[in-house]
Amino acid sequence: MENTGFLLPLVVLLNFVAAFSAESPNITTDQLALLALKAHVTHDPQNILATNWSTTTSVCNWIGVTCRSDHQRVVTLNLSDMGLVGTIPPHLGNLSFLTQLNIRNNNFQGSLPMELANLSSLQYINFGNNNFVGEIPSWFDSFTQLQRLSLHSNNFSGIIPSSLGSLSKLKELFLYDNDLKGQIPVTIGNLSKLKLLDLGQNQLSGKIPTSLFKCQELEDLILSNNALEESVPQEIGNLTKVNNLFFSSNNLTGMLTMGILLDRLK
Ligand SMILES: *[C@@H]1O[C@H](CO)[C@@H](O)[C@H](O)[C@H]1NC(C)=O
Ligand SMILES: *[C@@H]1O[C@H](CO)[C@@H](O)[C@H](O)[C@H]1NC(C)=O
Ligand SMILES: *[C@@H]1O[C@H](CO)[C@@H](O)[C@H](O)[C@H]1NC(C)=O
Ligand SMILES: *[C@@H]1O[C@H](CO)[C@@H](O)[C@H](O)[C@H]1NC(C)=O
Ligand SMILES: *[C@@H]1O[C@H](CO)[C@@H](O)[C@H](O)[C@H]1NC(C)=O
Ligand SMILES: *[C@@H]1O[C@H](CO)[C@@H](O)[C@H](O)[C@H]1NC(C)=O
Ligand SMILES: *[C@@H]1O[C@H](CO)[C@@H](O)[C@H](O)[C@H]1NC(C)=O
Ligand SMILES: *[C@@H]1O[C@H](CO)[C@@H](O)[C@H](O)[C@H]1NC(C)=O
Ligand SMILES: *[C@@H]1O[C@H](CO)[C@@H](O)[C@H](O)[C@H]1NC(C)=O
Repeated sequence: MENTGFLLPLVVLLNFVAAFSAESPNITTDQLALLALKAHVTHDPQNILATNWSTTTSVCNWIGVTCRSDHQRVVTLNLSDMGLVGTIPPHLGNLSFLTQLNIRNNNFQGSLPMELANLSSLQYINFGNNNFVGEIPSWFDSFTQLQRLSLHSNNFSGIIPSSLGSLSKLKELFLYDNDLKGQIPVTIGNLSKLKLLDLGQNQLSGKIPTSLFKCQELEDLILSNNALEESVPQEIGNLTKVNNLFFSSNNLTGMLTMGILLDRLK
C-alpha cells in the first residue's frame, strides 16, 4: 500500500506505447476512409475520383481534400458540384479531425451512417441538394462545434429532432425543401447564436413555438410553405436584428402584429 509510487511511471509508459502503437489512427486511416467513399460512388461523370484519387499520391493532394499543416490528418472534404451518385460509407466517421464536410449538389442517396457521430470537430456540414432519405438523426447533437448545418433539398422525413437545440454554436440552419412533419421543436429557442433559420417547403404543423423568439441574433427566418397554425406569437417583436421574415403559405391566423413587424423591417 505504502509503496505504489512506481505505478505512475508505468502507467505513463503504457499510455505512451498505446498512443504510438499501430492501433492509433493516422493519415492511412483517412486514406482508407476516403477510398471507402470512392468505392461507394457508383457514378462519377467527370471521372474526378477515378483519375485523381490515386494511392500513388498522398490524400493531401487529392481534389477536394485538405490536410492539417503537418499533413498528418485530413481536415476538410469538399466534393460539391461533382454530379456524384452513391452512398456514404460508415468509414467516413474515421476522419476524426474533419472540420468541414461539403458534398452539396450531388446525387448521394440512402441514409446517414451513425458512425458520422464520431466527427465531433465538424464546424460546417453541407449535404444540401442530394437524395438522402430517412429521419434527421438525433445523434446530430454530437457535432458540438457545428456552426452551419445544411440538409436542404433532400428527402429527409419525420420530425425535426429536439436534440438539435443543444448545438450551442449553431449560426445557420437550412432544412428547407424536405418532407419534415410535426412541430418546430421548443428546444430551437436554445440556439442563442442562430442568425438564419430556413424551414420552408416542408409539412411542419402546429403553433410556432414562442421559444423561437428567444433567438435574439436571428436575421433571417423562413417558415413559408408549411402547415403551421394559429397566430404568430407576439414575442416576435423581440427580434431586434431581423431582416427577412417569410411566413406565407401556411395556415396562420391573425395580423402577425403587423405594427411591430413594420417597425423592425424599416
Ligand atoms: C498508420 O497506422 C497503420 C496501422 O493502422 C500503420 O501500419 C502505418 O505504418 C501508420 N502510418 C504512418 C504514416 O504512420
Ligand atoms: C489531382 O489534382 C491535383 C489538383 O488539381 C493535382 O495537383 C494532382 O497532381 C492530381 N493528382 C493526380 C494523380 O492526377
Ligand atoms: C467547395 O468547393 C466549391 C467548388 O470547388 C467552392 O465553390 C466552395 O467555395 C467550396 N466550399 C467550401 C466550404 O470549401
Ligand atoms: C474505420 O471505420 C470502419 C467502419 O466504421 C471500420 O470497419 C474500420 O475498422 C475503421 N478503421 C480503420 C483504420 O479503417
Ligand atoms: C465511432 O462510432 C462507433 C459507432 O457509433 C463507435 O462504436 C466507436 O466507438 C466510435 N469510434 C470513435 C473513435 O469514437
Ligand atoms: C422521397 O421519398 C418518397 C418515399 O418516401 C418517394 O415517393 C419520393 O419519390 C422521394 N422524392 C424524391 C425527390 O426523391
Ligand atoms: C433547451 O430547451 C428546452 C426547452 O425550452 C429545455 O428544457 C432544455 O433544458 C434546454 N437545454 C438544452 C441543452 O437542450
Ligand atoms: C420577449 O421580451 C420580453 C421583454 O423584454 C421578455 O419579458 C420575454 O421573456 C421575451 N420573450 C422571449 C420569448 O424571448
Ligand atoms: C389549412 O386549413 C384548411 C382548413 O382546416 C385545410 O383544408 C388546409 O388543408 C390547410 N392548409 C394547410 C397548408 O395546412
